[in-house]
Order: sequence, then C-alpha cells, then structure tokens
Amino acid sequence: MRYRVTLLKGDGIGPEVTGATVKILAAAGAPIDWEEAPAGLEAVEKYGVPMPEVTMESIRKTRLGLKGPLMTPKGRGFRSANVSLRKELDLYVGLRPVKSIPGIVTPYKDVDLVVLRENTEGLYSGIEHEVTPGTVLTLKVSTRRAGERIAKWAFEYARNAGRRLIHCCHKVPVMPLADGAFLDAFRSIGDQYPFIEKADMPMDSLAFSMAQDPDPFDVLLLQNLYGDILSDQAAGLVGGLGVVPGANIGDGIAVFEAVHGTAPDIAGKGIANPLAVLNSALLMLQYVGEHKLADRIERAVFDVLESGKVRTGDLGGTSNTAEFTEAIIDKL
Ligand code: NAI
Repeated sequence: MRYRVTLLKGDGIGPEVTGATVKILAAAGAPIDWEEAPAGLEAVEKYGVPMPEVTMESIRKTRLGLKGPLMTPKGRGFRSANVSLRKELDLYVGLRPVKSIPGIVTPYKDVDLVVLRENTEGLYSGIEHEVTPGTVLTLKVSTRRAGERIAKWAFEYARNAGRRLIHCCHKVPVMPLADGAFLDAFRSIGDQYPFIEKADMPMDSLAFSMAQDPDPFDVLLLQNLYGDILSDQAAGLVGGLGVVPGANIGDGIAVFEAVHGTAPDIAGKGIANPLAVLNSALLMLQYVGEHKLADRIERAVFDVLESGKVRTGDLGGTSNTAEFTEAIIDKL
C-alpha cells in the first residue's frame, strides 16, 4: 500500500522543516508519494491567492495533506490561507497532542494532554467590517451544529484513545450566548458518554491552572481563538513551538501541520527545528494506520534527543536543521 499525500511546503522556515521531514520519511522507507501543491507567497505570485483551488483540489483527491506554515500577506485583502483551508475543506477539528519528550528538560514532567480546537467558526469567522471610521465589528459565530460535531468527535476520540477526562473551556460569564451554546452542546453530547468524565472551566482559570500544574488535564475542548492561544501555551510546557505537532481533521480528510508559524526571525538560516512538522507527519502515519513505522521514527528521534549531543537552538543546542536531520537518519 502506498499513500499519495499533498505537500504544501509553506513559507519562511516551511521549506526547511518540510524538506527535512520528507528526507527522514524517505530514509525510513515510508510508502508515500508526494504531490506538491502551491500555497502561501508562492501561490500569490502564481495564482493571485494564497490558497488556490488547484491545491484544494489536490487535497480533496488525496484526502491527506502535510503542510508547512503559511504567511498571509498583510494589507492586501487576502483571507488567511489557513482559515480558508480549514473552512473550505471543513477541517473542523484542530488536534494538538502535547506530550513530554524524552531528553527535553522542562519545568514540567510527564505532560500528556490533548488540545482539541474547533477550527471553523468562533472569532475566526472571517466576518469583519468597519462600521464607521474607527469602529470595527468582528463577528463571533457559534452554531449548535459545530458545537455538537466537535463535541461528538472529542468524546469518540477520548473513547478510542483511552482518555478519561474532557474539559470544555469557555467564557460563559461574558459571552453567555456564544460560549453558552458551545458548553450546552458539550454537555448534551456528553450525556451519551457517561463513562467519560466531564468538566468545564473558564478560559482564564484554565490558562492559570495549566501554567501551575498541567497534570490534572487530559483532553481540552475549546473554541477557535481559545484553542489557538492555548495550543501555544501547551507547547511551552514541553519544549516549545519547535516540537509540537498538529492536525486539521474533517470527515475522511486531514491536513497535518505544526502549531508554529513561519518564524521569520530565523527563516533561511537553516537552524529551524523540524521536529514539529516531523511529529505532525508521524500523526499522519498513525492516522492511516502505519503505527509501527511511526513508532520506529519516533524511537530514532528520542534516541537522538536523549543522547543530548545533537539538538537545535530552540532546545538549547547548537546543531542546525541538516545536522539534526542526519542524526535522526543515522539512528534509523
Ligand atoms: P512563529 O511560530 O512563527 O514564531 C514564534 C517564535 O517561535 C519565533 O521566535 C520563532 O523563531 C520560534 N519558532 C517557531 N517555530 C520554530 C521552529 N520550528 N524551530 C525553532 N524556532 C521556532 O509565530 P509568529 O512569529 O507569531 O508568526 C510568524 C508568521 O507565521 C505570521 O505571519 C503568522 O501569521 C504565521 N503563522 C502561521 C501558522 C500556520 O501556517 N499554521 C501558525 C502560526 C503563525
């Protein structure tokens, strides 16, 4: 069995980290045929938009994508490429597993939690306009349907992954309608899963509690903006943005990508950590059922990190992207 996967190399450090990932997967013998598709700045130059139809079409066909981070050009009226992708392919689940990594020392031990973000609405509705000069209106959209389907996905995920507890996070006291609908959907779907523990928590309390001690948390279910922010905070618990993977998942279609952005401050220097995109590719291998292969690559990564000799600057090392990539390939 071979897999056809649409590859969006991304902007900034994107080509560096997706390139490293493709190299490592090839060295591991991953049965993947890549179908490269334009996105971001490259696509703006060629098609006039950051997420052209030709790329959407490729993902609709392959049902699998691996994506580097994308930059949406500012002030040119473009809709965010990431928002377009998630909305148009209806990738309504943002899955971000956050786990301590052997060899990476942080103030927290044995972190193991999953951030689930509703990807299609909330404050990222893309509906924004200037009502009168100086007054801008941005709409936060919260539908019962979106709340229920992500809640259903969350409970099914927890059941299959052996997760015991889901926290639904919100700001119901200040947004009783929008966030109240999300919480209601969580509770009503949750009634069908009496064997999974449920809790809810205001977003600010959650951020505070997680910084103090992430241990009590298992699965976190959040609306779009809260999920975006909390994913980065959660990444900080286990070594930073350079290591945490992600996936955008719809019904029978998924695009895998790191939590981090294009990192303009280090782009082109060859020093980015490719681990977040590599780990996203491992999530993709698990998604298609290639668990043994994913485990073998993960073991090689852990061996390199545990040896402590080769690691990128964000993890306190002095190695560059190519040296880290080669070290993983050597272990494989
Ligand atoms: P960022 O995640 O690009 O960078 C934040 C900090 O983390 C920087 O200091 C950067 O050097 C570091 N960093 C990120 N990834 C790293 C890696 N793999 N290895 C080592 N260090 C790493 O966030 P920022 O600066 O807020 O956003 C930059 C651009 O990326 C913006 O245009 C933003 O819109 C875009 N972006 C795209 C995303 C996507 O395509 N999914 C997600 C987040 C941001």
